Amino acid sequence: MCGIVGAVGHDRCGPVLLDALKRLEYRGYDSSGIVTLHEGQIDLRRAVGKLVNLETALADQALPGSIGIGHTRWATHGGVSEDNAHPHVASDRVSIVHNGIIENHRTIRARLESAGHKFASDTDSEVLAHLFVEAFDAGLDAVAATQKILAEIEGAYAFAAMATDYPEQLIVARNASPLAVGIGEGACYIGSDAIALAHLTRKVIYLKDHDFALISADHVAVYQADGTPANREAVIVAASPGMVDKGGYRHFMEKEIYEQPDAIAHSLAAMTDADGQLTATMSTEDLRAITGIVMLAAGTSHYATQIARYWIETLAKVPVVCEVASEYRYRHPVTSAYSTALAISQSGESLDTLMAMRHAASSGLHTIGLVNVPGSTIARETDFVLPTRAGPEIGVASTKAFTAQLTVLLSFAVALAKAKGSIDAERAAQIHQQIQSLPGLVGRALTLFDPIRPIAHALSQARSALYLGRGTLYPLALEGALKLKELSYIHAEGFASGEMKHGPIALIEEGLPVVALLAADEVMAKASSNLREAAARGGQIILITEERAVHEVDFADAVITVPNVDSLLAPILLAVPAQILAYLTAVEKGTDVDQPRNLAKSVTVE
Ligand code: F6R
Repeated sequence: MCGIVGAVGHDRCGPVLLDALKRLEYRGYDSSGIVTLHEGQIDLRRAVGKLVNLETALADQALPGSIGIGHTRWATHGGVSEDNAHPHVASDRVSIVHNGIIENHRTIRARLESAGHKFASDTDSEVLAHLFVEAFDAGLDAVAATQKILAEIEGAYAFAAMATDYPEQLIVARNASPLAVGIGEGACYIGSDAIALAHLTRKVIYLKDHDFALISADHVAVYQADGTPANREAVIVAASPGMVDKGGYRHFMEKEIYEQPDAIAHSLAAMTDADGQLTATMSTEDLRAITGIVMLAAGTSHYATQIARYWIETLAKVPVVCEVASEYRYRHPVTSAYSTALAISQSGESLDTLMAMRHAASSGLHTIGLVNVPGSTIARETDFVLPTRAGPEIGVASTKAFTAQLTVLLSFAVALAKAKGSIDAERAAQIHQQIQSLPGLVGRALTLFDPIRPIAHALSQARSALYLGRGTLYPLALEGALKLKELSYIHAEGFASGEMKHGPIALIEEGLPVVALLAADEVMAKASSNLREAAARGGQIILITEERAVHEVDFADAVITVPNVDSLLAPILLAVPAQILAYLTAVEKGTDVDQPRNLAKSVTVE
């Protein structure tokens, strides 16, 4: 969604905030802005478009001052315009940046407008600036003003306010949206995550929901919503101080596809104990206590859960249900059949997933969070953490986080099955050995860029495409279709191959690209006969398969092969060519691969 930053006590506030925003650009990128306070004056720069436009505006006119806040926006309320870009300023006196949604903003705005407040934007966020002006006008100090405002606003928020009334402190608050406070040398900072602050400090305080804080150069005073002082410990975060860059690749996504052997190897290492056994980072007793799992996730992470369900039910014989996180709590689920909720999120911040996890926890389920960002909200709130070690994923479309999630989920399934006694130690060791071959196999699949290029060129001319798979390759078909549509804007749908005859086959017409995912598994023969039906009706079959299964589909129009692989691992290995196909198709079409239209990396609103 949006990213917020702030600094107090740093004499080069403008450039420091710009650097911090660059690290948050993955959260949103349709407009941005920075405001500083210098000699009693609020000085604002905003620009529509990518951050580079704000950088140009700042190069033309630098921002003086040692206190300031900044924002990179992904529009929700109010279109993309300079007026709607943050920071918002009210009465030349209070400036705010906000991530989240103030759900009751209309009522508040109507009240403030009738009291004479003039609004300059269509955003929900601007009410915050006016609420502070109103509270200061009423004679409230910073603590009382913030307390009053938090009691009035509803929704998810992380915000920072800067006021001429308090020229040496920032006021920040959070509820459901992430916020980190960085403690530096003679300066303090705020950011939507610790990565934003990694070039400034690794000492971070994470505010809890409904906390607010007054931050000056050398002091952070944290309060609960009712104004009671709160003690929140600072932690040292492991975020890399280096700026994440493209490392010579054309796009972050390309780099992240290439990083998969490492991401998988590091994630597997995190799941392996000193004796080389898969432990799932949990004790045998904790694993044995798991009698049913509800998996909560969104988008690509949700497709990872759907693949994992096959593994966990097959190996560990533990019932699993996969829930779209945004739907879960609103259908008032019956949770008594499950002991455990497993929330899966690359960012650890997707609000839908966080809220679903909280709902499960409040219904009495134990929670496990599978996250890629250490210290993220889900990681902090969950009973157990299963880490992926994919490193920062910057491209909006998830790639290395997905295959790392699958690696961890398969390892978890094996550890669970072993603890439950549904597989013996020998079978567990055998699967573990196969998983260890994954980095090498994925490395070999990375040589597929050149063979896939002409196929991507042809696919880029299509208006629509189908993705088909059976078994664990059915969720992978959904993921392949998602990658293609979000990156190249070509309409794509994924189906279970066996479902085609129940309706979707009517879509097939001469020349329609059909991306077929196939492995030498128990459903191969059935899947290939489903494909034959699609080919017979004019579908252009693009087959993605392992070498030993190619002969099954001798009618394919294009073939992409990966090395032979155990069928348990097939969805992980076959994900790689599906990613490359979507990536190269988008490059052919000239779309914005790392930051596709209308999308943000971390979605912190419902
Ligand atoms: C698609 C993609 C999204 C995310 C989804 C969940 O390529 O990346 O569908 O998977 O927004 O994000 P996380 O895993 O951070 O909760």
